Amino acid sequence: MSNAPSRFLVTARAPLTELPAWKRFVVAAQTCAARADELDLIEAPGLVLDASGQRHAPELLAAGEALLEARGFAEQRQRLLAGDEVNVTEHRAAWHTILRAPTAPTDVQAERERMDAWVRRADAERRWRHIVHVGIGGSDWGVRLAVSAFGYAGTWRDVRFVANIDGHAIEGGLAGLDPRDTLVVLVSKSFTTSETLENGARAREWLVAAGLDPADHLVAVTARPERARAWGIPEAQIFRLWDWVGGRFSIWSAVSLTTALSVGSDVLAGLRMGAAAMDAHFAQAPLLANAPVRMALAGIVNRSILGHGSLNIAPYDSRLANLVPYVQQLDMESLGKSVDLAGRPVGVPTGPAVWGMPGTDAQHTFFQWMHQGSDGAPVDFILCSQADHHWASHHRQLLANCLAQREALMRGKTLAQARAECLAEGLTPEQADWLAPHRVHPGGRPNHLVVLPRLSPYSLGALLALYEHRVFTQGVIWGIDPFDQWGVEYGKVLARGIAQALQPVASEARWDSALDTVAQAAATRPADRPSDHDASTCHWIAQLRG
Ligand code: F6P
Repeated sequence: MSNAPSRFLVTARAPLTELPAWKRFVVAAQTCAARADELDLIEAPGLVLDASGQRHAPELLAAGEALLEARGFAEQRQRLLAGDEVNVTEHRAAWHTILRAPTAPTDVQAERERMDAWVRRADAERRWRHIVHVGIGGSDWGVRLAVSAFGYAGTWRDVRFVANIDGHAIEGGLAGLDPRDTLVVLVSKSFTTSETLENGARAREWLVAAGLDPADHLVAVTARPERARAWGIPEAQIFRLWDWVGGRFSIWSAVSLTTALSVGSDVLAGLRMGAAAMDAHFAQAPLLANAPVRMALAGIVNRSILGHGSLNIAPYDSRLANLVPYVQQLDMESLGKSVDLAGRPVGVPTGPAVWGMPGTDAQHTFFQWMHQGSDGAPVDFILCSQADHHWASHHRQLLANCLAQREALMRGKTLAQARAECLAEGLTPEQADWLAPHRVHPGGRPNHLVVLPRLSPYSLGALLALYEHRVFTQGVIWGIDPFDQWGVEYGKVLARGIAQALQPVASEARWDSALDTVAQAAATRPADRPSDHDASTCHWIAQLRG
């Protein structure tokens, strides 16, 4: 990994909004027509991106290209792919691309092979009928996604996921399992995450209570093997991550041990191949024929210029339900920031709220709002040309629904059309005048359609890398660090203090704490009882303590 200093990049870049290239891009976005009638397809490995539903006028795309140049995009992309220190605030690389590179460094390759061998042995011995995967955030979503995408019809190993600190999660996760045939996979890059360590501790107690040696039933995946060893996991059962892999970019690593045990090491290999092919496309394709780049430019237009506060992810494939939280973490933890690398306000709205649900469920839940609500949201529709079941009519209807929702959102319906419809249905002119406004659709809602030939590991890997690089590119344009997550840390620190304060207290102290009322909290505290909690938090600590 090269160690080029990032200071130049931090200090030398001009604020986005002062760049002539930004001003040109804004004007082009505001003045260009939507052009939904002009097909705009971008071929990429494992998928086709249809950007016809986004603003894609030639003058806007040319301005986008100039903006990327003004932001030093080519250099930044090169630094990302070379493993340079692109995570500036944490002084680290974000080298997830090397985890899926066909020729990975020796230690990465060795760890892959060690994990594959471990899985082969477990398979050969038909061990571990039950897997309890304990991890949260990036140590959870990717595995859930791959397991549900390729194990949707069941696998011989039953996988449970336990992420939340809520004790019901681990209670339910272990309920009814045979501890003798259960493997607990603890995944935590830092091996300090309280959810994972607490849930892991409950699983360990459960194994002990069954008269088993927990060391035989626990595996860890972490960048801090010494912590896992101290926690009681034998060296041979610890798989490695590296500091330079961000949690939300770690699906390509041993974090996916559960995926390999559940749906097979081949799935993991296919995911990596698809992602590596997308990496090559991202590195080499001309900017305007580059799928992640084009998606990013549309994302910037929608968020920073047209003012859309959210992005809806609509996979028309129920196996991709977990794509929504996966992209939600990837996008929101990466782009949910408002200052640039030099610490200045970015000056325009940045990362949108990402949300969604598979179609067609989504149509019966919130699509009304998408069609006729005052805001609406840009949508990423995702579909697979071919299904893996044999009910052709199901798939035909699924595809039809996806295309129809998209068309309705783009095309809209005018008042005149709505009125004509009402009259054609036999309403009187007065009734039509009254009802027609309720049936107007504004239309012009921006969208992408991403089409995968089939839901193969290759195409899913490509799709995930498409999103990763889209996020990175938006980070470069906004000038923010998409690889840190300081916002998450603050709440974690406060939670530690509040958890202490919520510990049971003796009855006298309890009385004391009951006196710790709203009024007291608001008043200046005596020096011996300092508290920097607000009045309401103090009140609820007192109420909930014990
Ligand atoms: O949510 C914050 C975060 O640090 C994520 O970035 C990460 O994926 C998750 O917590 C879990 O962290 P770890 O793998 O260290 O337990």
